[in-house]
Amino acid sequence: MQISPSILSADFANLERELGRIAGADWAHVDVMDAHFVPNLTLGLPVVEALLKVSPIPIDAHLMIEDPDRWAPLYAEAGCQSVTFHIEAARDPRELARRLRASGARAAMAMKPRTAFAPYEDLLPELDMVLVMTVEPGFGGQSFMADQMPKVRQVREAVKRHGGEIWVQVDGGVSATTIEQCAEAGADVFVAGSAVYGAEDAAAAVDQLRSLVAA
Ligand code: DX5
Ligand code: ZN
Repeated sequence: MQISPSILSADFANLERELGRIAGADWAHVDVMDAHFVPNLTLGLPVVEALLKVSPIPIDAHLMIEDPDRWAPLYAEAGCQSVTFHIEAARDPRELARRLRASGARAAMAMKPRTAFAPYEDLLPELDMVLVMTVEPGFGGQSFMADQMPKVRQVREAVKRHGGEIWVQVDGGVSATTIEQCAEAGADVFVAGSAVYGAEDAAAAVDQLRSLVAA
């Protein structure tokens, strides 16, 4: 069970300090948005490169961008330890995942809430993680979509059938009140933005989330 706080809800004027607040987490989740794939714009490769230099924990880059076939490998080459592309935007996901792994990153595929998993199950051998979005991507602080839990179960079942170590991540509206149902459905990596950075004590919020899903 791993916790990956999203810096989308952090203070963008003080990102090094904000990373320090989550040093006890497993990953720092960095949301890259391009104002095309999603209706919001955050940060890109130069900022991620700067974060990699100062982050106390590995970076989990979630790319909500068009043309990941072109851009995602650059995040892996820069040193992001996990790189997630959206299947809706990928032209050749199999080749893209292979390139991410060849650059030393864990390769991950994300699905928006209305995207079905079944057509992509045959990609599992190329993947290290599958991200089931539990909000429409684009913004932090939205309400958790419990109707995505069947998809989490479906991915977990497929991962079990396939074997190997493939993580199942949930992202969007994950908090102390929703994290347990995600774990129960089969998720094992939990992204939380506002639930961590909105808390007075971010480190305590990470610990609390972890304790709720500890086996
Ligand atoms: C949404 C992002 C999420 C976001 C989660 O598009 O992918 O990572 O930061 O924020 P919360 O936890 O506030 O829903
Ligand atoms: Zn995200």
